[in-house]
Amino acid sequence: MAKIQKIKGVADLFPEDSARYAFMEKTARDVFTSYGFGELRTPILEKTELFCRSIGEETDVVQKEMYTFPDRKNRSLTMRPEATAGVVRAYVENKIYQPGKVSKFFTFGPMFRYERPQAGRMRQFHQINAEVFGASEPQADAEVLLMLSGFLKGIGLEKLSFELNSLGCPECRPKYNQALKDFFNSLDKSELCDDCQRRVDTNPLRVLDCKVKRCKELTKDAPSIPDHLCTECRDHFDVVISLIDEAGLEYTLNPRLVRGLDYYQRTTFEVTSGDIGAQTAVAGGGRYDGLVESLGGPKKVPGIGFACGMERLAMLLEGEYEAATDFYVALVDERASKDALIFGEKLRRSGLKGEVGFTAKSMKAQLRHANKINAAKCFIFGADEYENGTVTIKDMTEGGEQETVSRTDYFK
Ligand code: HAM
Repeated sequence: MAKIQKIKGVADLFPEDSARYAFMEKTARDVFTSYGFGELRTPILEKTELFCRSIGEETDVVQKEMYTFPDRKNRSLTMRPEATAGVVRAYVENKIYQPGKVSKFFTFGPMFRYERPQAGRMRQFHQINAEVFGASEPQADAEVLLMLSGFLKGIGLEKLSFELNSLGCPECRPKYNQALKDFFNSLDKSELCDDCQRRVDTNPLRVLDCKVKRCKELTKDAPSIPDHLCTECRDHFDVVISLIDEAGLEYTLNPRLVRGLDYYQRTTFEVTSGDIGAQTAVAGGGRYDGLVESLGGPKKVPGIGFACGMERLAMLLEGEYEAATDFYVALVDERASKDALIFGEKLRRSGLKGEVGFTAKSMKAQLRHANKINAAKCFIFGADEYENGTVTIKDMTEGGEQETVSRTDYFK
C-alpha cells in the first residue's frame, strides 16, 4: 500500500527535536513565573471573526494565510494563526478585568499560517507567548522587554538584536496615516505592487512593511512615525527607552518597524538573528491598548505582549538537550529476563533513568546499544550472573571499570 506522507509545511518532532522545545518551554515557564505570569491554554479552533476583528482585515495573515473552513453546521472556524486574539477573547469572555487589576498570562502551542514554507517558515509552527493586561505604564513595556531578554539569555542566546519603535495611538496615528497617504499619492502609484496600491487607501502603514524591493525603494523617504507621535506617545516611549537603558538592554530604534498585525499601538518591537537565513525574526510584540475594547471588553483596558517562534529559536540552540541515560540492563542469557526486568525497575525506583533489553542478544550487540543510548552504566545479565545471583556492572566511560557484585547487596 502507498505510504501516507505529512502535508507541506509541517514537521514531526522526534525526541531529539522535542527535547529542545521542552527546554525552551521549561526556561520560559521558570522566567515568566518569576514575573508573576500564569499559564493559560486557549483553544486552537476559534470563530473566524475573532481573527478578522483583531489582526485586521487588511493584513496578510487574514487575507492570505488563515486555515479557515466551515464546520459541519456551516459555521466559519479558523485554526489560530497566533495566540494574542484567543488570549484576549478568553480574558474578555471570563471577565478577568477589574479596575486597577494587572493580569499576566503565558501560553505555548502550535499556530497555523498558510505561508510558503522555507527554512524557519512553517505552516504549523510553535510560539511561546506572553501577555499583560491592565497596565498602561511604560514600566510594563520595559518589564516585558526585559523578561523577553531574560528568557532568550536563559536559553543561551546572547547575540540577538532588539529593534524598537512606537506606532502612536488613535490620537496621532490618523494624522500620520494622512501624511503617509499624501506621500504615496505624490508618487507614481502604478509602480507600487498590487497589494500596496490597495493598501495606500485601506491601510497605508502596511505599505512600509511590504517586502517587494521596488516598493521599499519608492517608500524610503516616506514620513517617519517618530516625527508624528503626539506628546503622550512621545513621553511614553521616552520613558520605556530610559528604563531599558537603565537596565542595560541593548537595542536599536527602527522607525520603519510596523509589524504585520493591525492591533498594535505605541511600543512595538522585534528580535532578530542574522544566523537563521531569510526569516530573521525570532520574536515580536508590542502594545495593543485598543484590542480588549474592540473584542467586546471594557474601554481602555491596555495590553502588551510578545511571541517567540520556537522553530527559529530551535535553529539557534546548540548542543544536546536530551536527558542523560543512567543505565542499560543488558540481557545476554535469556533465562535472566525476569531478573533483568525487576532489576531495571529497582534502578528506576532509586531515581535513575534507563532501559532494559527485552530479548537476549550477544554481549557485543548489547554494549553497542548501551553506547548508542549514551548510558552511563551497563548492568549485564549473562549465564554466570543468572546462576550466581550477581550482576556485572560496566562503567561506560572510556577505560571504564567492570565489577561483578551480588544483586541483593547492590540495593543495600
Ligand atoms: P508575529 O510577529 O506574527 O507576532 O509572530 C511572532 C513570531 O512567531 C515571529 O517573530 C516568528 O519567530 C514566529 N513565526 C511567525 N510566523 C511563522 C511561521 N510561519 N513559521 C515559523 N515561525 C513563525 C505574533 O504572532 C503576535 N501575536 C505577537 C504578540 C503577542 N504581540 C503581542 N502579544
